[in-house]
Amino acid sequence: MSAGAAAAGPWADPGARLLVTGGAGFIGSWFVRDVLARRDGTRITVLDKLTYAGSEANLAPVRADPELAARLEFVRGDIADRDVVGPLVAAADAVVNFAAESHVDRSILDPEAFLVTGVIGVHVLLEACRLERDRALAGERAVAPRLLQVSTDEVYGSVETGSSREGDPLAPRSPYSAAKAAGELLVRSYVVTHGIDAVVTRGSNTYGPYHHPEKLIPLFITNALDDLPLPLYGDGLQRRDWLYVADHAGAIEHVLRFGATGETYNIPGSAELTNREVVAALLGRLGKPWSLVRSVADRPGHDRRYAMDGSRLAALGWHNRMPFREGIAATVDWFVANEGWWRAIRSGDWDAYYERQYGARLAGSTRAD
Ligand code: NAD
Ligand code: TYD
Repeated sequence: MSAGAAAAGPWADPGARLLVTGGAGFIGSWFVRDVLARRDGTRITVLDKLTYAGSEANLAPVRADPELAARLEFVRGDIADRDVVGPLVAAADAVVNFAAESHVDRSILDPEAFLVTGVIGVHVLLEACRLERDRALAGERAVAPRLLQVSTDEVYGSVETGSSREGDPLAPRSPYSAAKAAGELLVRSYVVTHGIDAVVTRGSNTYGPYHHPEKLIPLFITNALDDLPLPLYGDGLQRRDWLYVADHAGAIEHVLRFGATGETYNIPGSAELTNREVVAALLGRLGKPWSLVRSVADRPGHDRRYAMDGSRLAALGWHNRMPFREGIAATVDWFVANEGWWRAIRSGDWDAYYERQYGARLAGSTRAD
């Protein structure tokens, strides 16, 4: 998208009213906990469907503090439901949309929910923002709400060499990343056609506390704690640029405050590593042996590498703070100390998903040396 004027609006002020969709998930809940913990009067309404990936337990630290809890409202609902979304957007200075189906492997097994949330859901948010813009033009509210759409580096597709810049073509290769790209393109169309105030972030692979145990790092930590096999796809030499969750949430807030309207910002990580290097790091912290790692059938269409150029975000004044070695140690230690949190998730429907995703793979697995 083309750059517009620098941001200035009530969403950047202490006491802002934020609608955070998907705020009970991994990154969204970190954003909510962080912003409220600054104690600057900001009020947050979380709208979350509480799919398998969302949990009110992720907001427990807020509930435990009366001053923070007083500034949080939780609404269980779907971003694709216009009757729920309309009044919440009307009451907000800004909307930060984290809500998505977010797991590539599930998008291969069951893609439809990805489209409903990632395309129709984004459409419903955009229509609500358009209505509020019309109300602002009619003098019925002071300023139209700003929308920040949380997107991903995966929209660029697999990047064999170099690093993606924001103007590069989008070339998604999984149903997950295709749905994310579609959501972004809808946002762009509403900026151009209807003049809504929106910004887009494209974050890198994120890790840290409260990460759902289906994803590589938490799956391998929690399996290793139980001495279960660690299913490494293919040769394990796929490369990701790992971003600590506090840096991802911080960058999103920075873009919300200072991003130019209509602009897109890459949020790169702090360490480009192969999956094997990541697994070695977490096993080292846990003191568990490499012999737990099993080489299993690869993910279909597996993207080999993601890498993004971060100069636009750096020019806006944001720099990541957490080096990978410290971040992975903090993450491992958090999972060790919060066994109750992840055991609750690894119950219920967990076994059925695990069997579907890994049953045949593990049966046909080999040593990963
Ligand atoms: P997550 O799966 O942990 O959280 C998603 C949250 O959205 C959950 O709380 C879920 O209940 C909620 N949700 C899903 N569908 C909804 C709907 N229709 N209406 C309301 N709520 C709904 O995901 P995450 O890892 O925290 O990712 C958050 C966002 O960041 C996503 O948009 C994802 O695409 C993007 N992202 C994630 C990463 C990563 O590595 N995790 C990297 C870049 C971008
Ligand atoms: P994941 O955490 O699913 O994130 P993404 O697919 O969005 O990058 O996977 C990170 C990397 O780890 C990816 O290359 C796939 C790989 N992976 C495995 O090797 N085994 C697994 O069981 C999982 C979940 C992922």
